[in-house]
Amino acid sequence: MFGNLQPQAPDKILALMGEFRADTRQGKIDLGVGVYKDPTGLTPVMRAVKEAERRIWETETTKAYTALTGEPAYLQALSSMVLADARDDARTAMLSTVGGTGAIRQAFEMARMGNPDLTVHVSDPTWPNHVSMLKFMGVPYVEYRYFDAETRGVDFEGMKADIARAKKGDLVLLHGCCHNPTGANLTLDQWAEIVAILDRTGAVPLVDLAYQGFGDGLEEDAAGTRLIVRSLPDALVAASCSKNFGIYRERTGLLMVQVAAAAQKDLAQGALAFLGRQTYSFPPDHGARIVQTILDDAALAADWKAELEEVRLGMLGLRQQLAAELRSLTGSDRFDFIERHRGMFSRLGATPEQVRRIKEDNAIYMVGDSRLNIAGLNRDSVPILARAIVEAGV
Ligand code: LMR
Repeated sequence: MFGNLQPQAPDKILALMGEFRADTRQGKIDLGVGVYKDPTGLTPVMRAVKEAERRIWETETTKAYTALTGEPAYLQALSSMVLADARDDARTAMLSTVGGTGAIRQAFEMARMGNPDLTVHVSDPTWPNHVSMLKFMGVPYVEYRYFDAETRGVDFEGMKADIARAKKGDLVLLHGCCHNPTGANLTLDQWAEIVAILDRTGAVPLVDLAYQGFGDGLEEDAAGTRLIVRSLPDALVAASCSKNFGIYRERTGLLMVQVAAAAQKDLAQGALAFLGRQTYSFPPDHGARIVQTILDDAALAADWKAELEEVRLGMLGLRQQLAAELRSLTGSDRFDFIERHRGMFSRLGATPEQVRRIKEDNAIYMVGDSRLNIAGLNRDSVPILARAIVEAGV
């Protein structure tokens, strides 16, 4: 049976995690996988999460199954956080998912159920697993221009021209905020232009919102997504709680599917329940319960928001420090884009050879496309990275 198995190409990000662990050098710096680290290098359990877990432990009386599409109170609470008053209850079907990746995967499945001739449009570049999942599913994809290698900002003219080529019923995958891997993001005016193009073409957006609260703020980071659902008939939104609640291993996500007419909602809800049942049946509940406990309690929610804001501002501070350090080392402002980028990541624009050199000479690990995780830095490691970047000739 298994004689025909072929070796799988390792995921680049996960392979780098393994390489970092195996490196025995003192002072090695991990800027690879997208996991938040505090200044001491720990990925802490957030205060509100600990408190929610304590309350759950004290009050939970059963581990019997919850609803097939997930605990309704969780779906309400998280969708309210993401969409606020842009959520149209009469037209929105929801599924609690196994992390943000589970939401993306089910979104692809759902789109393919709706349109068997589906083509998915993804940004160039995008999170490698987007493309990997599409290849595995045999769903055709095309790339739209996104990153301007010169300015390290968004190539907005290119993006618009390419998205305008999407056909009715195609899926256009957009990063809601904190673009992974580049860190370059759309302004709200630019979101409005993208919405107008989607409206004209009839292509359907799928927003991947994995970093809400890591960019410009919890509300600001959802503004583009909210505009999308307010303005367009069909839309899919995949939200992740891995980063903003720091509950990576609990695998907590949400897929929202907005349909054009209220009469289609039951069909969409039924399709989501079916997809869940076919893949893993009931979704995991612990992470969802943590999120719902926090969001439904004003004091816990306030504490969580305060801690999330500390995390966000910490990353912004590191961006500013790194940009300033590079300004003084190079006597130029050519790395100022690091300060303009938002979220965990920035694409530096280094060649694979320079990335390799930085790793070999300095034990600093970033993804081969020169994506660096800002949250892997601290005040002391920023100058070390800045020097390494300059020495590698970036
Ligand atoms: C990343 O891009 O590093 C994260 O989303 C983690 C992952 O699963 O790749």
